[in-house]
Amino acid sequence: MLKEKVLNAINEQINAEQYSSLLYLSMSAWFSDKGLPGFANWMYVQYQEEMTHANKFFNYVNERGGKVTLKAIGQMPTEWGSIIEVVEATLAHEQYVTDLINNLVDIALQEKDHATQSFLKWFVDEQVEEEANVKEILDTLKLVNGQGNGIFMLDRELRGRTFVDATVPA
Ligand code: FEO
Repeated sequence: MLKEKVLNAINEQINAEQYSSLLYLSMSAWFSDKGLPGFANWMYVQYQEEMTHANKFFNYVNERGGKVTLKAIGQMPTEWGSIIEVVEATLAHEQYVTDLINNLVDIALQEKDHATQSFLKWFVDEQVEEEANVKEILDTLKLVNGQGNGIFMLDRELRGRTFVDATVPA
């Protein structure tokens, strides 16, 4: 059985992952509208990944005999000023999610919930990868100054990104 403090924090995290998912879907729509199918595809893949994160927490709560309480998902942004701005917002959001995950680990430690601590390790590792992935794209964008042929090349590369459900063991 999950302790109340842990359960409440995980329910908040489910909401945050669902928000992340819709934020990235909104970014995907923005990129599509700007004629950047590769960037739109990348964000659509991110949207799908975030759904699997929310569902991983959802299934964990059920497995531990807790009750998932779904909450309203707030309004996410729909407009950005430039391609770089979207990717910077993505990195800032992933850094925010990393803080949330670290906070969850702290709560699990305080509550001596070793099972949750062990479960959260996957997310701790995932955040390192997610931040590095976005940072790499942001660095490339800065190199090409967010414009011209460089954008075209990067967009073409991002078309190749495919969704893989990393929450399911290979
Ligand atoms: Fe679920 Fe990208 O953090």
